Amino acid sequence: MTNMNGFIYGGDYNPEQWLDRPDILEEDIRLMKIAKINVVALGIFSWAVEEPQEGVFNFDWLEDIVNNLYENGISTILATPSGARPRWMANKYEEVLRVDANGQRAYFGQRHNHCFTSPVYREKVRIINTKLAERFKDNPAIIMWHISNEYSGECHCELCKQAFREWLEKKYKDIEVLNKQWWTYFWSHKYSSFDEVEPPSPRGDSNVHGLNIDWHRFTSDSTIDFAKAEIKALRDAGAKQPSTVNMMYNFWDVNYGDFAKEIDVVSWDSYPLWHKGDNTEVAFDNGFQHDFMRALKHKPFMLMESCPTSTNWQSVSKLKKPGTLLNASLQAIAHGSDSVQYFQIRQSLGSSEKFHGAVINHYGSEDTRVFKEVAQVGEALESIKKIASTNVSAPAAVIYDVENRWALEGSEGPRNKDMHHYESAYKSYRALKKYGMNVDVINEDQDLSSYKLVVAPMLYMFRNGMEDKLKKYVADGGTLVMSYWSGIVNENDLCYMGAVPHSLSGVFGLCSQEIDGLYDDEANIAVPVENNALNLLKRYEIKNLCDLVKVSDAKVLMTYGNDWYEGMPAFTVNTYGKGKAYYVCGDMSGEFYVDAYEAIARSVGIEPIISDIADGLEVCSRFDGEHEYVFVSNYKDEPVRVNIPVDAKMLYGEADSEIASRTTIVFEKLDVIVRALFHEDMKECPFVLYTIG
Ligand code: GLA
Ligand code: ZN
Repeated sequence: MTNMNGFIYGGDYNPEQWLDRPDILEEDIRLMKIAKINVVALGIFSWAVEEPQEGVFNFDWLEDIVNNLYENGISTILATPSGARPRWMANKYEEVLRVDANGQRAYFGQRHNHCFTSPVYREKVRIINTKLAERFKDNPAIIMWHISNEYSGECHCELCKQAFREWLEKKYKDIEVLNKQWWTYFWSHKYSSFDEVEPPSPRGDSNVHGLNIDWHRFTSDSTIDFAKAEIKALRDAGAKQPSTVNMMYNFWDVNYGDFAKEIDVVSWDSYPLWHKGDNTEVAFDNGFQHDFMRALKHKPFMLMESCPTSTNWQSVSKLKKPGTLLNASLQAIAHGSDSVQYFQIRQSLGSSEKFHGAVINHYGSEDTRVFKEVAQVGEALESIKKIASTNVSAPAAVIYDVENRWALEGSEGPRNKDMHHYESAYKSYRALKKYGMNVDVINEDQDLSSYKLVVAPMLYMFRNGMEDKLKKYVADGGTLVMSYWSGIVNENDLCYMGAVPHSLSGVFGLCSQEIDGLYDDEANIAVPVENNALNLLKRYEIKNLCDLVKVSDAKVLMTYGNDWYEGMPAFTVNTYGKGKAYYVCGDMSGEFYVDAYEAIARSVGIEPIISDIADGLEVCSRFDGEHEYVFVSNYKDEPVRVNIPVDAKMLYGEADSEIASRTTIVFEKLDVIVRALFHEDMKECPFVLYTIG
């Protein structure tokens, strides 16, 4: 990823807030060295200092800081400053300011609120990125470019509207094609020309579903296009260091699958609500995001931001309990991150983030609990540094696709209250992790062929020939688990005619005929069919949605136990080609997935990374072709039983028959059996395999 030897450890650093305090800058370096910090991210919000007046550039202070840090063993990830513009620019060029869905233009203020279409903004960004690249491209301290910050949002200005119309014209060519795909004869919404199209708005259209989907896509494309232009400016000026953008949790505005193709390294900002409810669930929920980020490129990613203790923007600022920082940091590494970074190195004295957790707080010394834990993370990363740049390979994938989410969550269907889509993906993910395997979280565009098991929860929208890909995957020997509310609409949110899931009734041996939405206080139950092929014996609660299917060839494994559809199928399996296709009809409890996936995983020959994993432990592994490194974490407030293989070589932490509360251990497994395969895009990393123990 970079020329760093070992893991990247550090965080966002804002020395431009302290230029009149050289003593502070010196003290920061002393403290960073104690904590074994080797990288900082600089310049993320520095435009006003870098270009104090239009066309007047000042990078001397930045270069001094970069060089001084480097002399002290600290490299720099250098940011382009487009995440927040200087005041002079907004005052002079109104078009850089974003317009909201009600047509109101913002005043200067906040951040992440520029128009992505504005030619002025694009040009100003091009110029400053060029200047930065010219100045820093050959500086050995710079290991990476951090492009802008947390790209997000949309703009409804006239420039963006016009760009949207052009985007539509390019896609549909003929307005009649758009009218058909968006079904605009409904409520007399027919367009006569592309010029008539307005973005979705509370003052206008908000439920022409095809319009909504295309607006999401346009916004995503224009965000990515803006980032591409930023990177191009750096490259045109000769900068060769890799680029990254910092992505966000379960993010909605941008298709990260598309975005990942335009950058060199995926990174993300992770701020879980630690200690809210069951801390193990908080961890698995965070692990889901790590696995999504890693699977974008099937390569090591970076934890660009996390908090050394509590943030100040969550509804309650809960401190991380002792041990949780190390757990959270090693969790990122366990899932394939090559870095642990914080927001922020030093706490500011004023403005909105003055109480946000930091490595160095207002007290300002190494004598704080948080600083000591930060230093402990530095030690831990050092002691496992040989794991850096190894990869993760997963025998199973959960499909969780943002375009599907856009469509599904706006579908105005069986439950507008909450479709529980994320929960349904999470329950599958959680159960696969509980079994003890690595899992990829992927989108509809990704290759399926390397997986033994693919899970497709609520895949409402099929796009890009998804139905053919799924069919081929099963025919070639894959095992697919699909749920209710799948294969309903095409990529423009237009319903398919005929049997549902679209084009796959042969694969599943059934078709869905009706779906019942349940009130929150209602439940059904799944009852096992005697001697069913997975040997399921328990009954499981079903909530929210019950799909009523008509079986042709499928074998029924469970049936509904209540209501007027008692006895109808609730869970089925069908053999298709060389593979198997399971269909989950209702929103089953998490326990169902735990039991069903254990049986399915065994049936397809997936072995857990370690055996006999107690409830509450998270197990992940990284592999370099010869060595398998296993991470076991206990996020609970009490010790949990653990079964460490006899031949394990401990690399970090200690455990005997128990793993202590809020602790992670790392060991190397010595009985590695290599036997699997690669994603096409893992070719440059030929030893990334998965193992059985
Ligand atoms: C985001 C931003 C940072 C900072 C943190 C605070 O991730 O990228 O600049 O505001 O949140 O948690
Ligand atoms: Zn705009």
